[in-house]
Amino acid sequence: MVIDIFRATTVICAAIAADVKKIIPVKTIEEALAFKGRGYILASERDGKKIDGFDMGNSPQKFYNPALKGKTIVLSTTNGTDAIHAALAADTVLIGSFLNFTALAQKVIELKKDVILLCAGWKNKFNLEDTIFAGAIVHKIRDFMDCSSFDSTTAAEYLYINSKNDLNGFLRKSSHHNRLKHLNLEDDIKFSLQLDITDKIPFFDGKEIRALI
Ligand code: MLT
Repeated sequence: MVIDIFRATTVICAAIAADVKKIIPVKTIEEALAFKGRGYILASERDGKKIDGFDMGNSPQKFYNPALKGKTIVLSTTNGTDAIHAALAADTVLIGSFLNFTALAQKVIELKKDVILLCAGWKNKFNLEDTIFAGAIVHKIRDFMDCSSFDSTTAAEYLYINSKNDLNGFLRKSSHHNRLKHLNLEDDIKFSLQLDITDKIPFFDGKEIRALI
């Protein structure tokens, strides 16, 4: 499961909830620009900022839009799209966010497979929001699956248990929360912390992301 709460996987879950046809995650701006002028919607950000020449940035609420129904989005972000490609070794790559939390946890329990919770982080560094989400998943599935005694699992769940009553308050300490705040993107943070607005689960098949049927 790939996790990038602020904001890539939240964007993907919002777009899939809005019935976009598919999302093509690419690692570089150049790869994304190669799709320009071919009827795709180009979306990207670097360091939180929208890239000139692209149709959209990475504000999840803008993808939760019925006007995007049936469209194809090409997406490239600072960390999230790299993390999605890094997950390719797994036989199933699910995309997670608070928007589809309960449906996702349920699917993980149903699949009865070993799960890696891949947190995108920030430029190969630990971040709070992805880890807390991973901890929330562990807390939800613990009674149904053996959640190993890896310290990372224990730490993530501890962080979740100690922040769940005021997630937004706790995440004010997060570096990316502050980065987005300085870019006047508080609405993105608020939207990204909503719970269960969709039961749709995006999955990556190595080329594109669509809703799991
Ligand atoms: C990322 O890929 O790190 C995030 O999506 C960055 C962002 O959207 O601000």
